[in-house]
Amino acid sequence: MSIRFANSGDHRAIQGILEYCFSAVQFSGAEGHAPEPANQETETEEMRREKEEALTWVLVKEEADGRLGQHVQIVPLTIHFDGALHAMAGIGGVASLPEYRYGGGVMELLRYALQVMHERHIAFSELAPFSFAFYRKCGYEWGFRWHKLSIPMSELAQFRADKGNFVSLTEAHKEQAFAVRNLHGARFNGAERLEPVKKETFPPKNHLAYGVMGEDGALSGYAVFQIKENTIRCRDFFYRDIQAKRQLLHFFHRHNSQAETLILTVPETDTTLHLLGNQYLDVKAEAGMMVRVVDVPAALAAMKISEDLAGGFILQISDEMAPWNQGNWLVTVAEGRLKAERIEDREPDCMLSIQRLSQLVYGFVDGSELTDSGMAEWRNDVAKPLFSKVFQKRPTAQWIGF
Ligand SMILES: CC(C)(COP(=O)(O)OP(=O)(O)OC[C@H]1O[C@@H](n2cnc3c(N)ncnc32)[C@H](O)[C@@H]1OP(=O)(O)O)[C@@H](O)C(=O)NCCC(=O)NCCS
Repeated sequence: MSIRFANSGDHRAIQGILEYCFSAVQFSGAEGHAPEPANQETETEEMRREKEEALTWVLVKEEADGRLGQHVQIVPLTIHFDGALHAMAGIGGVASLPEYRYGGGVMELLRYALQVMHERHIAFSELAPFSFAFYRKCGYEWGFRWHKLSIPMSELAQFRADKGNFVSLTEAHKEQAFAVRNLHGARFNGAERLEPVKKETFPPKNHLAYGVMGEDGALSGYAVFQIKENTIRCRDFFYRDIQAKRQLLHFFHRHNSQAETLILTVPETDTTLHLLGNQYLDVKAEAGMMVRVVDVPAALAAMKISEDLAGGFILQISDEMAPWNQGNWLVTVAEGRLKAERIEDREPDCMLSIQRLSQLVYGFVDGSELTDSGMAEWRNDVAKPLFSKVFQKRPTAQWIGF
């Protein structure tokens, strides 16, 4: 039995695993990372290179008899984080044929995937879990939460004055739409940066999409939605500024002849509810994806903190799946940045699991919350005030589910 990168001869076996485990998913390369069978006549050199590169992100487990039983795909992406862009490795296609399940093989693949990310200098990872408990075993933790607002159309009447120049969006608006979305996403830790040349169609299949134009003649906001059974459902709701947001809410109100309710799914930190007249609304909280710090010093170095803070503390991190993170780190705070260095000869101030550190780094929970709710073990209370000021809450969100 061995873990290895997939090769072009594995296509059929991987297709079989994915079809069995996710009956709806086609191993078509739609994400741009999975290989398709080669059509020797039409395949260009560039396509061939792309496929070869894609295979360097796919891991499989081969049994002693040569059969492939398990598969994990790393999805190389870029995310917004504290005002900058960073590499992030998504995890997808986690699959095991039933005859090999409960043998620990997928955990082994995930352990290997973390090593690959570390070797490729990727400090962050995210995934959409089928079970939080399963991925917590390999160091991931809950990182995003959504609020599903059920807004009666009558509530949106108050945006009557926010008229706008509304346009139906087509593929031709894709670049402008992605620019708006990236600007919006930059306000959230963990949101994917979309590249203009992505293979997916825009607007997505079976969805409607409308935008509003700004005074500069460029798209200033847009929404992708569906209208069914008297309800508008919208999850992709992106805007450059508050004016565009209000105009889009007005745009939805124009549908009061077609729908009674707008179900708007927004990150938990979104303030739409404050703009409405009546807060007796149905708001449903939904757990989002999981996040993980793959490399402690690199992730801490990516954080932007208050320039006024100075000092240091020692964190002891437990991370069985990524031993390079395990142990004591002296975290020095200076000039708005954090620096983590190994330290062996001093006792830690605070002991944390990699899961809790990941939540702190993303900003999903803050240092005081973590301490007050007993999610960290303290040895030296003197370091608590600085720890609480360093680890502040910041908005987190990830719109894509890979
Ligand atoms: C989920 C799945 C990948 C697990 O595969 P597997 O080969 O059984 O995984 P492993 O044997 O490596 O399991 C490792 C650990 O997870 C636990 N585990 C396995 N299946 C689990 C499940 N369905 N729910 C919770 N924990 C589970 C195992 O008990 C084991 O824990 P332990 O080491 O503490 O005993 C497999 O059931 C599958 O392919 N399902 C269909 C596709 C799917 O849902 N993929 C996940 C998409 S996010």
